[in-house]
Amino acid sequence: MSKKLHGEIVVIGAGPGGYAAAFRAADLGKNVILIDRDAELGGVCLNRGCIPSKALLHITKVMDEAASLSKMGVTYGSPKIDIDAVRDHKNRIVKQLNTGIAQMAKARKVQTLHGLASFVSNSEIKVLNEDEEISVSFDKCIIASGSSSAMIPGIDTSHPSILTSRTALDLKDIPDDLLVIGGGVIGLELGQVYATLGSNVSVVEFFPELVPGADKDILRPLVLKLKKQFKSIMTSSKVVEVKPQKDGKLNVVIESNGKKDDHVFDKALVSIGRKPNTSMLNIESTSINVSDSGFIGVDVYQRTNVENIFAIGDICGNPMLAHRATHQGKVAAEVACGHAAAFDVCAIPSVIYTDPEVAWAGLTEKEAIEKEIPFKKSEFPWAASGRAIAIGANQGKTKILFDPDTKQILGVAVVGPGAGDIISEGMLAMEMGSDAEDVSLTVHPHPTLGETFGMAAEVFEGTVTDLYIPKK
Ligand code: FAD
Ligand code: NAI
Repeated sequence: MSKKLHGEIVVIGAGPGGYAAAFRAADLGKNVILIDRDAELGGVCLNRGCIPSKALLHITKVMDEAASLSKMGVTYGSPKIDIDAVRDHKNRIVKQLNTGIAQMAKARKVQTLHGLASFVSNSEIKVLNEDEEISVSFDKCIIASGSSSAMIPGIDTSHPSILTSRTALDLKDIPDDLLVIGGGVIGLELGQVYATLGSNVSVVEFFPELVPGADKDILRPLVLKLKKQFKSIMTSSKVVEVKPQKDGKLNVVIESNGKKDDHVFDKALVSIGRKPNTSMLNIESTSINVSDSGFIGVDVYQRTNVENIFAIGDICGNPMLAHRATHQGKVAAEVACGHAAAFDVCAIPSVIYTDPEVAWAGLTEKEAIEKEIPFKKSEFPWAASGRAIAIGANQGKTKILFDPDTKQILGVAVVGPGAGDIISEGMLAMEMGSDAEDVSLTVHPHPTLGETFGMAAEVFEGTVTDLYIPKK
């Protein structure tokens, strides 16, 4: 070993969980070392996930909106896409944020190390990079090493025509025919980006519905739009074989309802979920308990079964979302610094940043019915919202599930532009234990899409005046 270091708090992984944990611990006065195998800080979220995908989704949303103006009397010509400039724009955004995180680390005197971290024992890790091997001992360690794309066994992932979200975001070209394997969040977001940029997109989803975790009614406006944008959506279907051809195209055998068909695609994006990055940690040299699927078990204080080792974010399991990782990171840092904290939240919101956006949090109707949880549903259709009509978002909807006894909010779901922002009010209402009356008596600005949240509560209260609901 060429170098030896000691950190009061050592964080493995500089994603939204890891850098939040490192910065919080430094703000609480600790000597912190933050390690990442990537050259840039920010993890999957910033470098190859949330931010680059949202930068591209913004571009394609504006393209789509510009085209839709023709119905309102304003017509543009067909867009000219300079794919290199689009890629540069996305990369500049990522770079700007990389720089910001590095500056914040420096300002807080967090020592950053570049290299692959692996455990030696319950109190030491080694960090290996191109130049050196560093031994790092620690009082407390926070594992925030995240997740990577899961792959289908038997598919040659090194083939240039087989994409993961990472390579799809590299935006090398716009394939004429793109197959998306997995109709979940990544498949729909990146599928919509590629479809708007000009690809014929086909989606294969194993289950009978896209995004199986969300309520069908809330997904409907998105599915209707995707049916127009995509070449085909094959649900209850699976890819049986992918055979690369000499010309680089892919021969794909897809089985739908027991019938196998051959298809040819230029490229295929595999988006069938993500797996934890546990295998590179040499976790066997510690006493940390890991599940069969590789996730690290933690309690509400983000502690593993080893007293001085914590874990946060994707490495701990679902839902694999940046905001969950960040909140858990802060909890782990505070507990590691001896403060009273716990990850004890009512709900974690899910958002699909497609156009329209889909967002839900807390109890879904699907789950309530499956688990026989009593609820009362209240909805406000955006077809009755002046603002939604003005912007052509009549298909949207805001839905709240209430506890029939306490009238408190059990779950919220929204579909339409800005759904991911509107759901935040539902989150606050749930965390505050607000009931239908609290929400309906809160003055919402008019005309906004946000007021549909208040009006959904008014529907429950029977006080709504923007809809006519005949008395039963
Ligand atoms: P990560 O962000 O995965 O960071 C882990 C870091 O640890 C990485 O930099 C990795 O290189 C490093 N690392 C791993 N092993 C080691 C090791 N042994 N030594 C050193 N370093 C190591 N979530 C949202 O909430 N909203 C979104 O809009 C969203 N969009 C997404 C879009 C895409 C295409 C993808 C793939 C994901 C998206 N996610 C989104 C999910 C989100 O990116 C993750 O939930 C989040 O990044 C998890 O944060 P984390 O801190 O747990 O780990
Ligand atoms: P996902 O779990 O959202 O969707 C995967 C889909 O693939 C599921 O619908 C599943 O039924 C299907 N599937 C699995 N195996 C299949 C097979 N062999 N053939 C056909 N379909 C198959 O996973 P995804 O889209 O890869 O995203 C991973 C995670 O990244 C998400 O779960 C989420 O946590 C995070 N993410 C979050 C985003 C956001 O918050 N907006 C955006 C992108 C990713």
